[in-house]
Amino acid sequence: MTEALKQVQTPAYVVDQGLLTKNLEILKSVQDRTGCHILLAQKAFSMFYFYPLIGRYLKGTTASSLYEAKLGKEEMGGETHIFSPAYLEREFDEVLSLCDHIVFNSFTQWKKYKEKALQSGKSCGLRINPECSTQDHAIYDPCSPGSRLGIPVSAFEGENLDGIEGLHFHTLCEQNADALQKTLEAVEQKFGRFLYRMKWLNFGGGHHITRADYDIGTLVSCILHMKEKYDLEIYLEPGEAVALNAGFLVTRVEDIVRNGMDIAILDTSAACHMPDVIEMPYRPPLLDSGMPGEKAYTYRLGGPTCLAGDIIGDYSFDQPLQIGDKLVFGDMAIYSMVKNNTFNGVRLPDIAVKDEMGVHVVKHFGYQDFKGRLS
Ligand SMILES: Cc1ncc(COP(=O)(O)O)c(C=O)c1O
Repeated sequence: MTEALKQVQTPAYVVDQGLLTKNLEILKSVQDRTGCHILLAQKAFSMFYFYPLIGRYLKGTTASSLYEAKLGKEEMGGETHIFSPAYLEREFDEVLSLCDHIVFNSFTQWKKYKEKALQSGKSCGLRINPECSTQDHAIYDPCSPGSRLGIPVSAFEGENLDGIEGLHFHTLCEQNADALQKTLEAVEQKFGRFLYRMKWLNFGGGHHITRADYDIGTLVSCILHMKEKYDLEIYLEPGEAVALNAGFLVTRVEDIVRNGMDIAILDTSAACHMPDVIEMPYRPPLLDSGMPGEKAYTYRLGGPTCLAGDIIGDYSFDQPLQIGDKLVFGDMAIYSMVKNNTFNGVRLPDIAVKDEMGVHVVKHFGYQDFKGRLS
């Protein structure tokens, strides 16, 4: 398989239709067993080439902005949901025209747009903050102290909920169903009394449902419990789980230098093409490689930008690397092409598909994509 991926001109993201479909089948099985609605969180994966395929398995999309909502509506259809910490006045009418569910982050936002939203007949909800941290990554924890995301229960008291049909929480990041179970206990304890009057509850994203060790049985019982006890429609909006391990980033070794260790300079950049490597931070999987020192030849892999910290990580190989070798990073469909940038004027990777016809490029980027965002 690696050899087929290496045929592509680098750098390129290649998304494997078969691997994506396997994930979609797992997600659909959760829908079939529970009657829940699963939506694609486009912030993680907006490769709309695949939206017709995804739309055959999932119920629609969720958006973080007007533009994502528009893309989801245009390219997939089905249900279109949106959450934003603050809607822009100049965009709100268009948001309303596109979205079926609109989730507000504060009572101030809700009161500001309530009349318009109710007139449009759209279903409105509030994002709650159950104040239940289940993870250590502070920047990915909306329950961390001082978080601006979601309304804590203390701010719910005495507020008028007329017109609100649903509640939404998003607190997880790459987690298993035990973290969901714990979160739901906090949600029930703090917000249970409000849930009886709602039509729906959205469990947000961060559920790593398509990971091999994910406990789908517990997820199913969590969904059924909330659905039956409070008579609710349940929504989940995973991003990562949809395209987890379904994509690759193919790159080429451009130079090899030595400074106390061997360093390979690639035509792909952590800063530009895989920003989560630096932000998260994490070490992306690289096919046919080992941890430093595990195989005979260890290299630091870095990008072509000026940033000293544009380092992907240290990896070892059975054979010495040569200029011109192609390397294939794994799990590069999610939070990659949606987050990339052209810092230093670095070329954006092409977007390619691997299907029964082989590997073919569906989008090529060039100088105009760099220049077009500047003036
Ligand atoms: C509100 C909301 N929904 C869904 C998601 C998708 O999360 P993930 O890609 O981790 O499943 C996020 C991610 O930040 C989010 O903020």
